[in-house]
Amino acid sequence: TARVRVHHLQQAKERGERWAMLTAYDTVSAAVFEEAGIPVLLVGDSAGNVVLGHTSTVPVTVEDILLLTRAVTRSTARSLIVADLPFGSYESGPQQAYETAVRMMKEGGAQAVKLEGGVRVAPQIRLLHEAGIPVMAHIGFTPQSEHALGGFRVQGRGAGAEQLLADARAVQEAGAFAVVLEMVPAAIAAQVTAELAIPTIGIGAGPGCDAQVLVWPDMAGLTGGRVPRFVKKYADLRGELLRAAREYADEVRTGAFPTAEHSFE
Ligand code: KIV
Ligand code: NA
Repeated sequence: TARVRVHHLQQAKERGERWAMLTAYDTVSAAVFEEAGIPVLLVGDSAGNVVLGHTSTVPVTVEDILLLTRAVTRSTARSLIVADLPFGSYESGPQQAYETAVRMMKEGGAQAVKLEGGVRVAPQIRLLHEAGIPVMAHIGFTPQSEHALGGFRVQGRGAGAEQLLADARAVQEAGAFAVVLEMVPAAIAAQVTAELAIPTIGIGAGPGCDAQVLVWPDMAGLTGGRVPRFVKKYADLRGELLRAAREYADEVRTGAFPTAEHSFE
């Protein structure tokens, strides 16, 4: 089967078919998600939290995302691979965004990039779009701005609804092929989805979006501690990995592993 393309996602919206996006940060999990039929994989800067051990996405560098994107693109051939532009790599202007996006495509092998913001990054989206680089936008709660937004908060409530709608219209008008809506009221997300021609991808944005995205270690139950309320856990990988690591360590201690079966004559 051929690679998923941006126009396939547009056609899915027109047919009313919902689809799932997952994050991916390494070659093994990316191959699993592609085999599962996930059409779009995001090399998210959530890697800052779930892979690199930072407490936010702010410290993530272009080199970090490039390294992970290369790992993901090497083991995939059908899923559309989107690389996140990290904090500080696109905000100063369209030229900076262009230079970072080109690296994600040439050095990382990504087929699209994602950046955070609406009206304020419309010039960046426009230049990338004109340069032939598919851009996914990300509005609502934007984790790179958590310090400005005052922490993890639902966006687009009350007077914020107008700003959210303005951001959604601005990114579509600038040429984004899709837009992530993070932590916005379900009714507003449904309204944006109905109004926009491009697909909306929700995370904590209710069931009315065209698509959904989750951070994979969260949805697979690998992340320790609390996960956000919008996460559904589809597995208990942390429990399973803990059991496997303990059993392995026990068997080495007791001499149950390795046996002749795992040895060479
Ligand atoms: O970095 C990320 O994982 C994201 C998704 C949650 C949309 O931006
Ligand atoms: Na991100």
